[in-house]
Amino acid sequence: DGTERLAADYVKGILQPITTCAIWDQIWNFQAKPDDLLVSTYPKAGTTWTQEIVDLIQNEGDVDKGLRAPTHIRFPFIELMIPSVASGLEQANAMPSPRNLKTHLPIQLLPPSFLEKNCKIIYVARNPKDNMVSYYHFHRMNKSLPAPGTWEEYFESFLAGKICWGSWYDHVKGWWEAKDQHRILYLFYEDLKMNPKHEIRKLAEFIGKNLDDEVLDKIIHHTSFDIMKQNPMANYSSIPTEIMNHSISPFMRKGEVGDWKHHFTVAQNERFDEDYKKKMANTSLTFRFQF
Ligand code: PPS
Repeated sequence: DGTERLAADYVKGILQPITTCAIWDQIWNFQAKPDDLLVSTYPKAGTTWTQEIVDLIQNEGDVDKGLRAPTHIRFPFIELMIPSVASGLEQANAMPSPRNLKTHLPIQLLPPSFLEKNCKIIYVARNPKDNMVSYYHFHRMNKSLPAPGTWEEYFESFLAGKICWGSWYDHVKGWWEAKDQHRILYLFYEDLKMNPKHEIRKLAEFIGKNLDDEVLDKIIHHTSFDIMKQNPMANYSSIPTEIMNHSISPFMRKGEVGDWKHHFTVAQNERFDEDYKKKMANTSLTFRFQF
């Protein structure tokens, strides 16, 4: 498509943008602090949505405070390194505490200090069919990721885990297995969509804020898809077009459960389900693919 893309390489068996590989030792040695709050996800699982909710909970529904800076500034993305645009590590190290941070790392690649310091971690998972569709469109518009190829090719790469941040299956299972030994709140995109009040209450309790109903309703409103899509501090419109080109596919694309039905062929769906059953046979973790 005419624009240069970042290459990817493996770190401990997980594909990562090459700029992340180059500073891997620094990322691995990142020093978390006990009052850091980490939002962790597989890419496109509902990170930005959760970040916005968390920030509004911390600010007790003060919408103006949420507008102080774009998401990626309010929540340094620790392993992100885009030359001349952003270094998550530098941002995080310069940030006063208490810090909010973001990662997409699988649990085995998480810098050990997060668990050693017993940081609060919010993990969000999304059903893999919608997650795959969302990630495919994100690859198309985001030049810091390798080109996705055709939808058919991308479908195979996703099943094989040969995409940046690795296998979706290993990611969600790895964090699921770790959740009871650590301070990890494990949430689902589909639950947030279905019953935002219930999930936002859970988040508030985990963060240690007691919010009344009026504030919760305000947070639900300001973190709805339609409002966030229009919010320049939450819709990634501040990223240079050379990196994210929203005219190819907007960051705030659809925000729905079940959009995969518009992408998967019947044959792909059958192949997916069969493969899913095998890969998820060894876990109690389950997903909703539609309402
Ligand atoms: S990233 O790049 O990993 O941080 O992306 P992430 O934020 O995890 O995922 C982006 C998808 O989440 C959708 N989104 C939302 N859905 C519902 N409600 C709200 N408020 C919301 N905000 C973002 C966004 O549209 C992407 O999903 P798709 O399916 O592509 O629309």
